[in-house]
Amino acid sequence: MPRQINEDDRPTEDDLARKEQAKRKPRVTAQLLARGHDQFDVFCAPCHDRVGTGRGIVVERGMPRPPSLHDQRLFGADDQHFYDVISNGYGAMYGHGDRIRPSDRWAIVAYIRALQLSQHASMADIPPDVRQTMAEKKSP
Ligand code: HEC
Repeated sequence: MPRQINEDDRPTEDDLARKEQAKRKPRVTAQLLARGHDQFDVFCAPCHDRVGTGRGIVVERGMPRPPSLHDQRLFGADDQHFYDVISNGYGAMYGHGDRIRPSDRWAIVAYIRALQLSQHASMADIPPDVRQTMAEKKSP
């Protein structure tokens, strides 16, 4: 039976293409962050909560609690680590490589960085358009 193509059904990438895309980290722009924000809220917030402290709704219902994305260790981890965790999973967390395309994984990574900065840096270090995103995020 021929594979049906719809909007959610992306063409399968072979491993090489995936590796190639993994290296193509996009430049951080307000647009990328907005996309990352959307994707994070859909795919990650159910467990990690919207600011990444690890108190998502699913956790409240008995899922193992993820570490806070603001932990010193994760603050210090490099972008590739986050990309890999999203792609392949980590411990009790399943991978999202089949659901989130590479460019969106990078968008999520960029957004996590912004979230981390919002906790670790003074607001003055954050560009105004990103600050706006943060402000929207904080009021539920
Ligand atoms: C179903 C719940 C769930 C979802 C959805 C989920 N995670 Fe996780 N995540 C976890 C759990 C649980 C852990 C801890 C796993 C462990 O240490 O065994 C974790 C761990 C992590 C870690 C820490 C890895 C480390 O080095 O300790 C990162 C980063 C992370 N998740 C990012 C994400 C991102 C980004 C998304 C969205 C694309 C996401 N997670 C979606 C449950 C989830």
